[in-house]
Amino acid sequence: MLRARIAGTGRATPEKVLTNDDLAKMVATSDEWINERTGIRQRRILEEGRTTSDLASEAGRRACETAEIDPKEVDCIIVATISPDMPMPAVAVTVQQKLGITGQCPSFDISAACAGFIYGMSVADSFIKCGQFKRVLVIGVEILSRLVDWTDRNTCVLFGDGAGAALLVPHEGDDRGILSTHLFADGAGVPFLNIPGGGSAEPTSAKTVEAKRHYVKMQGKPVFTHAVKNISSAAKTALEANGKTAADVDWVVAHQANLRILEGVAERVGVPLDKFYLNIHKYGNTSSASIPIALDEAAREGKVKPGDLILMAALGAGLSWGSALVRF
Ligand code: ACO
Repeated sequence: MLRARIAGTGRATPEKVLTNDDLAKMVATSDEWINERTGIRQRRILEEGRTTSDLASEAGRRACETAEIDPKEVDCIIVATISPDMPMPAVAVTVQQKLGITGQCPSFDISAACAGFIYGMSVADSFIKCGQFKRVLVIGVEILSRLVDWTDRNTCVLFGDGAGAALLVPHEGDDRGILSTHLFADGAGVPFLNIPGGGSAEPTSAKTVEAKRHYVKMQGKPVFTHAVKNISSAAKTALEANGKTAADVDWVVAHQANLRILEGVAERVGVPLDKFYLNIHKYGNTSSASIPIALDEAAREGKVKPGDLILMAALGAGLSWGSALVRF
């Protein structure tokens, strides 16, 4: 059977580290509160003057290197992000240019917030299975430090910047590749997490900027509850669809939003937490970048190995969520 296989992964994270203690000097918070409620100890912040496409192309280039494929051979680029260089055009076309790819390489963005990488992989999987493209670069990237209000302790402590990428290629046989993807969304969740200003609903004006409408707004509790419930159900759906059980899973590489969310998912899905690859303490919530960053780290540390069964799942603004079961 023809499947899409992950031939290489890569990541790029900014050098600048912002610790919880640093944040405690900016807003009324503490290392103890943030660590207890979220598991986050620090996050990375992109240096001024660098952009989403810089980090995305770095991660993409590394994924190509790992796969031993020249970026010029990539025939489609999908970038999952809610924090592109600019509202138009898609950041994927700038990434294409920075990778030195010219000519006919369709490049576009996907907006599914923290579930963006799973959505991107699902689209790439379909492209490869139907034979439309053979080397699809999927990148998850966010520079959320430029979209959060650094005076709002409810949100600014949670997020960080980063990029991760995977290069997908065709593979014949059942021993490797994406076994399934499942995508879900429920627009009833729009009020829980959004950036209200800057679109057609509230075009940017001095008034919207003054009212800070261009920053992330979040109701933490409903997001938390839906995340535990829907990430768990999407993960179970992935296992059931492939006739697998929790015991078959080698690693869970799930969206790193909050350690307590992942503890809840571990309990509901029945996979022990020590099978979850965790790096939230280092990077915070990097939204669509969190799964590919974690996957790349886990692979380079020799934890995730070729042939391992990896369960991926995420939920984010939308609400949008999904899962993927991958034989790495
Ligand atoms: N430091 C100190 N105190 C704070 C902070 C902070 N950074 N933020 C909020 N508080 C205060 C609140 O004001 C509140 O005070 P009050 O009781 O006097 O009103 C108190 O702490 C408790 O706040 P809660 O909102 O009840 O805290 P909760 O246990 O729900 O944790 C959190 C909040 C961490 C945001 C949690 O709800 C959460 O993680 N939700 C999921 C959000 C998320 O992950 N969003 C990311 C995008 S979506 C995704 O990736 C899944």
